[in-house]
Amino acid sequence: MESYGRNGRRVALVAGLRTPFAKAGTVLKPMSAQDLGRAAVAELLERTSLDPREVDIIVFGTVVPSVLAPNIAREVALLPVFPKGIPAFTVSRACASANQAITDAADQIVLGHADVAIAGGAESLSNVPILHSRRFSDVLVSAGRAKSLGGRIGAFSRVRPRDLVPITPAIAEPSTGETMGQSAEKMAKLNHIPRDEQDQFALRSHRLAAAGTQDGRLTAEIMPLYIPPAFSTWATSDNGIRTDTSLEQLAALKPVFDKRYGSVTAGNSSPLTDGGAAVILMSEEKARSLGMKPIAYVRSYAYAALDPGEQLLQAPVFAAPKALERAGLTLADIDLVEMHEAFASQVLSNLQGFESQAWAERAGFPRPMGEVDRSRLNVMGGSIAIGHPFGATGARITTTLAHELRRRGGQFGLMTVCAAGGMGFAMVLENAA
Ligand SMILES: CC(C)(COP(=O)(O)OP(=O)(O)OC[C@H]1O[C@@H](n2cnc3c(N)ncnc32)[C@H](O)[C@@H]1OP(=O)(O)O)[C@@H](O)C(=O)NCCC(=O)NCCS
Repeated sequence: MESYGRNGRRVALVAGLRTPFAKAGTVLKPMSAQDLGRAAVAELLERTSLDPREVDIIVFGTVVPSVLAPNIAREVALLPVFPKGIPAFTVSRACASANQAITDAADQIVLGHADVAIAGGAESLSNVPILHSRRFSDVLVSAGRAKSLGGRIGAFSRVRPRDLVPITPAIAEPSTGETMGQSAEKMAKLNHIPRDEQDQFALRSHRLAAAGTQDGRLTAEIMPLYIPPAFSTWATSDNGIRTDTSLEQLAALKPVFDKRYGSVTAGNSSPLTDGGAAVILMSEEKARSLGMKPIAYVRSYAYAALDPGEQLLQAPVFAAPKALERAGLTLADIDLVEMHEAFASQVLSNLQGFESQAWAERAGFPRPMGEVDRSRLNVMGGSIAIGHPFGATGARITTTLAHELRRRGGQFGLMTVCAAGGMGFAMVLENAA
């Protein structure tokens, strides 16, 4: 099998940037996902001095789309800095939506349909659409169609108090009704992940993210953002990172999703978050001709899925060995691993799955992928501390992995992302140095 992009169309990651990530309902609340995505892309162009006319395609991911502007990618493409003729489309693969945007853009480059692509994602969980009940929607439609004031009043007279109860989107599986948190709880139980291991992992996430922010490695990937409408306040770093948390504080938190017997808490879960992130991808040749220095090349990727009623967030265990196989590599070749941290119990379950013969066989491999060296794992923390704007996380992880691989002089990096619907994603990046 010819490896990805070896047809002479290798995909180079030349830059990546994100907004600060902020817990939903805090500093980024006044900004929509569209605002956040546009801010990240505009600043990315500014920092790289890429001529916007060079951009052939824009792909963006988002999980809870705006009802008014569902194709967020096109709204990003209509930033005044761009010419109006850049085709753009929006993708959704739950928490791997930005990864989907990146692989779709990369595929377009490999196919020769594009030379320069911008891909990323954005999410504003402060601004999820709140729906009316079916009956109240019908009343609104009838009132809108009524030809007289009497007709309108008549339509509204049919409203009952229960019709006014709003419907908010739940982070639950449509097929099983199970929420993400309940799934994480189930995985902790099935895989025997103790509470203290989850809390230890969460603490590690905060400590490493705090260190990466302090020494500027994470900060370099974050744009300062002035907040509308007054633009007199700003955000420069992620506000979910707790420099002062401790194992004692984490241990004192009550389980959220199974209050009686559970172990998943607000401390060992990723928080609901707002943010946007984007990367620039180019064919290797185009990067060379524009004098842009690639940070990394996309070596391979893979998606996988399992029954969402089983272990909802375990599919990275199928995707990672597949991506490695497609890259012609084994875990021993991997210098850095970045795993999306939806919940500590999910990361620890995935790590356990990578070592398991039974999971390997289910994934179609004779042997397990192996044990991930913890000193190479999420070396600047992860989504538990940094936050997780669903549509944007994949672009954050891609950028961080590429930069850190470069900084450490490693050759290959592996990333994994679990996603709703029982899906998983993995990608191998190769240092372009
Ligand atoms: C778990 C969840 C319900 C918690 O929401 P929340 O209750 O609003 O969370 P908060 O940030 O207010 O934290 C609750 C409390 O724990 C405390 N806390 C949280 N993390 C802590 C930490 N690391 N150290 C110390 N205290 C912590 C907070 O200070 C807060 O305390 P307070 O009530 O005294 O103010 C929410 O974050 C969630 O739904 N997360 C999962 C999201 C999800 O499903 N994502 C999909 C994954 S792919």
